[in-house]
Amino acid sequence: MTDPSAAPRAFPTDFVFGAATAAFQIEGAHHLDGRTDSIWDAFCRVPGAVINGDDGSVACDHYHRYADDVALMAELGIQSYRFSTSWARIRPDGGPVNPAGLDFYSRLVDELLEHGILPWLTLYHWDLPQAIEEQGGWRNRDTAYRFRDYALDVHARLGDRVPVWTTLNEPWCTAFVGHIAGAHAPGMQDPAAGLAAMHHVLLGHGLAVQALRSAQSNLTLGLTLNLTVAVPVDPSRSEDIDAARRIDGQFNRIFLDPIFRGDYPADVLADVAGLGLEQVVQPGDLATISTPIDVLGVNYYQGQAVSDLPPDQPLGTEAPTDRPVRSPFPAADGIYSHPQGLPTTAMGWEIQPDGLRDLLIRVHAEYADPAGVDLYVTENGVAFDDQAAPDGSVSDPDRTAFIAAHLNAVLDAIEAGVPLRGYFYWSLMDNFEWAWGYAKRFGIVRVDYETQQRTVKESGRAYAQIIADRSL
Ligand code: FCB
Repeated sequence: MTDPSAAPRAFPTDFVFGAATAAFQIEGAHHLDGRTDSIWDAFCRVPGAVINGDDGSVACDHYHRYADDVALMAELGIQSYRFSTSWARIRPDGGPVNPAGLDFYSRLVDELLEHGILPWLTLYHWDLPQAIEEQGGWRNRDTAYRFRDYALDVHARLGDRVPVWTTLNEPWCTAFVGHIAGAHAPGMQDPAAGLAAMHHVLLGHGLAVQALRSAQSNLTLGLTLNLTVAVPVDPSRSEDIDAARRIDGQFNRIFLDPIFRGDYPADVLADVAGLGLEQVVQPGDLATISTPIDVLGVNYYQGQAVSDLPPDQPLGTEAPTDRPVRSPFPAADGIYSHPQGLPTTAMGWEIQPDGLRDLLIRVHAEYADPAGVDLYVTENGVAFDDQAAPDGSVSDPDRTAFIAAHLNAVLDAIEAGVPLRGYFYWSLMDNFEWAWGYAKRFGIVRVDYETQQRTVKESGRAYAQIIADRSL
């Protein structure tokens, strides 16, 4: 890796610097203007599901404060804003279109465009209407078709102004954290349900891409995956090498292969044999799922060193409350994640910027480049235990260093030949961090949840400077 203290390193002239959020995490107004429950509203009511009993009823009150939030983005020089639309706001209970719900996103998009900020829309960031969940949610094949219809409804209103449309955010979390670990809505712990949900979210993605492409040929279409770098703890042990293969398979390739190659990987199918995946796949589904896309968003937070040997915590079992959760992988019993001796974040995640470089190089070479698909980092960011001064200001040099280290990794990947097109910091502002509620702060803008006051953190100023300089 290049020494970050060396001479300035410039970003390509067309590189896009952005920031990301998601509807449920920031909007609040959960029952306003026709919106009804999503699975996250319902999950927040499950005792112990979310730390401190936090919920999304008010969140960052972005529904009312969006214009100020867009002005803040403009002040920071943010070039593109990645946000998601709430299915439960646009089609409450999965029923007819609610024009008032679409009005909100229309106002937001207009505000962004007036400030010269490129709208980057995600259709599904985990907030399925609860009424659809009660009809089987993503375990039910029909939900994929309802997702396509919802995508077309959003497009009918915003297609004239939003150029980039991504279907899913992190289907691994939707399917496996939601249905196998039980740490996310809908809180199930059933590997077969997780695999059925996985196949149906991917089918919904493919159907939506086809429908949007037919509706308007000049859209940039794709999806966002969270990916990891899985390495063996001891590369000389075949058991550790196999553990890394299994985790890579059930984290990365189980999504990348159907999307880019039209098949689930044979070794992963063998690992999950007997869990019903093959029964939910119908003829033609994989052709639909592999409908060509234009853009792949990669979300990267940390890598994994894995082994069949304990002593450390099994993968994915950290939980903020006493409610028991299990490993999110359908078939990874007996695999353990080991600390790699790196500094950690407030989430307990190890800080490993080189993993981002390695991941981008691999995904470009094996998937994106052969398919002619553009790569973006659509999420990367960090929670630390920020200390706010009485005036709300936050000195967070560790977050500034995190951003610089990961942007250096991005430049390393670009120098290694990856035509990475942009980077979105997660998140624009502190927000509802799922099962962690408001206890974890990822923002470059602090939110005081008592007053809803926004204060740009030192890291936000540093990010703005990088954007202004277009170099590190
Ligand atoms: C990602 C999610 C995002 C946020 C970050 C920290 O997995 O997409 O909503 O919670 O993690």
